[in-house]
Amino acid sequence: MSVIALLGAQWGDEGKGHIADKLAAQAAIVARYNGGDNAGHTITIGETTVRTHLVPAGAFHPHATCALGAGMVINLRSLAREVDELNSHGADLTPERLKIDVAAHLLLPGHVALDGVGESQRGAGALGTTKRGIGPAYTDKAARIGLRAGQMADADTFTDSVWAHVERANVNLRQVFEPEMDAEALAAEYAALAARFAPHLADVTALVHAAIERGETVLAEGAQGALLDLDHGTYPFVTSSSTVTGGVLSGLGVGPKHVPRVIGVAKAFCTRVGAGPFPTELQGELSDRLRGTGAHPWDEFGATTGRPRRTGWLDLAALKHAARINGLTELVLTKLDILTGLDPSPEGDLRLRVCTGYSLRGERVHDFPRDASLSECSPVYTDLPGWKEEIGGARSLADLPPAARAYVEQIESFTGVLISHISVGPDRSQIFAVDL
Ligand code: IMP
Repeated sequence: MSVIALLGAQWGDEGKGHIADKLAAQAAIVARYNGGDNAGHTITIGETTVRTHLVPAGAFHPHATCALGAGMVINLRSLAREVDELNSHGADLTPERLKIDVAAHLLLPGHVALDGVGESQRGAGALGTTKRGIGPAYTDKAARIGLRAGQMADADTFTDSVWAHVERANVNLRQVFEPEMDAEALAAEYAALAARFAPHLADVTALVHAAIERGETVLAEGAQGALLDLDHGTYPFVTSSSTVTGGVLSGLGVGPKHVPRVIGVAKAFCTRVGAGPFPTELQGELSDRLRGTGAHPWDEFGATTGRPRRTGWLDLAALKHAARINGLTELVLTKLDILTGLDPSPEGDLRLRVCTGYSLRGERVHDFPRDASLSECSPVYTDLPGWKEEIGGARSLADLPPAARAYVEQIESFTGVLISHISVGPDRSQIFAVDL
């Protein structure tokens, strides 16, 4: 078999955890390939809702190996907390089940401190990062001064490296009059964390290739989304990793011939957390309606930071861009139920809209702008009929009202990608396959 790439096709938070959990049922390995604990994947199993930040969503399928790939930056403190919590819900993440690639980078306390400093120094131009240290950790990786997970196996050099990291961070903290960190205490804390996680070290790339050779399926679980990609997203308002299919290849060490299935996950509307252009962003009543009140785990509040997400209409031009840069072979459409209740008439006040291009200084723009001009673009909308029927019980396309089916068809015809699954609620049972 081969690798299935599962990635976000918008600005993250598309509901990847939900479908990852479903696909993990058939996978031998579920592997994260990018990012760190800036991600937050929510899975609802019966009455229990759990959030994972580093561990892939396969954690609740006991047959699957969970792997953290080379493209990741791993905060060991967060990992320890998360593994303890998931184990308390029965995940059983032993060293046999949870593997950490030797080439993954470690995200250390200095990175977290410097992320916070960087954001406050940017003032009004802040990126709105999750302040998890992601940018500084990838900066050290690119500067070739990062600490790789494999070093956990050598207690002496590991402690020295943590110490050196803290001293380097302290030089920067001193310059901006921020409190310095205690190198001795952190070296001791990280020595204990390294002793705990060293048994999880593995060559994840070799494990992935061995699984492929045995004819098994590997699920590559993305974090964030295409529009937050370092190269192809809305730079500089992006994360610091490769969130797209290219990131699967480099982050796990596989070639494209092993990734025939690339699944993009897209919400039925758009959300964005953090700063940056968002042409279809809504304000007021409609925006609140899409966001929800925060009373439910699936409402649009950051799974990692709790921040309210910005909300807006589905941007089909942006989704087509995501389809192209990823080579999407299928789409999963999530949270279609949230659009229930809009006006059945496309002329009504509460009408359902999708963005099919932009207007920029009086000119019509068809392709998603890849430069700063995006922030000057106004969306060009196509209005569609809404529907009033509750659809949480739908288990096939035929169960959806005609207007919801027309919405699905509009997405497919605009992006040129077929929708393979639709989710109509948070429960495991509320995601159904579409007959292609
Ligand atoms: P960073 O990844 O913490 O550096 O944040 C950079 C940008 O990516 C900010 O706008 C964050 O809000 C956004 N971001 C990072 N991780 C996620 C995620 O998992 N979902 C949605 N947005 C994210």
